[in-house]
Amino acid sequence: MFMRFGVLGSGIVGRSIAGKLSELDHEVAIGTRDVEALMARREPDAMGNQPFSEWSKGSPRVRTGTFADISAEAEIVINATAGASSLEALSLAGASNLSGKVLIDIANPLDFSGGMPPTLFVSNTDSLAERIQRGFPEARVVKSLNTVNARVMVEPTQIAKGEHHVFVSGDDGQSKARVSEILQSFGWKHVIDLGGLITARATEMYLPLWLALMSAAKSPMFNIKVVQDQ
Ligand SMILES: NC(=O)c1ccc[n+]([C@@H]2O[C@H](COP(=O)([O-])OP(=O)(O)OC[C@H]3O[C@@H](n4cnc5c(N)ncnc54)[C@H](OP(=O)(O)O)[C@@H]3O)[C@@H](O)[C@H]2O)c1
Repeated sequence: MFMRFGVLGSGIVGRSIAGKLSELDHEVAIGTRDVEALMARREPDAMGNQPFSEWSKGSPRVRTGTFADISAEAEIVINATAGASSLEALSLAGASNLSGKVLIDIANPLDFSGGMPPTLFVSNTDSLAERIQRGFPEARVVKSLNTVNARVMVEPTQIAKGEHHVFVSGDDGQSKARVSEILQSFGWKHVIDLGGLITARATEMYLPLWLALMSAAKSPMFNIKVVQDQ
């Protein structure tokens, strides 16, 4: 079913998700703080990704706007901003523009201030997703996709033929069901509903293991598979 998506975040995650949604014929716009400043950037980012303006030429159907403008137009909003700045970005998007909407939160609460590897700036008794939900109580926050690399998010069948797992956490069952459908449209075969948004603590706290696995595998192209007794 055709939907209008607003993706907050001009980095590799925002681009990957927006590109996939556009490929699936949804209407999609990427949000940023300042469109002119984003388009004027000429250098690759810290991870070596091409400047946004270059990427944008290859994805002409994906529009670009301010966090507020693209959230106002969207039916579903996706948070793909740096975790430490997500609350700020969502404030710029505007609480009224998020009200009543599914807000898919992909961000991780990573603190790079002490160098690599990053630590978590919230954990155990709280999570970034819960902070977002408390900050924007009218939004329907669903945490998902934060446990995999940007490419795996949108091309899950590229590894192990998609026989691996992704998670959803959220307090609203209907919103989680909608997000699960979107994930299936991306190619995800196995979506585990972990329960309420409180379970986002667990997927966010998986990040130290994800980083260690990436270092051991020397690649971000992996995921975990949950196996059970029959
Ligand atoms: N990279 C991955 O494969 C991966 C995998 C799983 C989860 N994640 C999570 O996904 C999120 C996005 O990651 P990413 O690597 O694509 O991009 P990123 O570099 O972490 O974030 C870029 C976005 O954050 C915004 N931002 C930065 N500082 C801001 C501030 N002070 N106020 C408002 N907005 C600000 C930027 O806005 P402008 O557009 O205005 O510059 C940009 O849109 C992160 O939370 C990350 O932890 C990443």
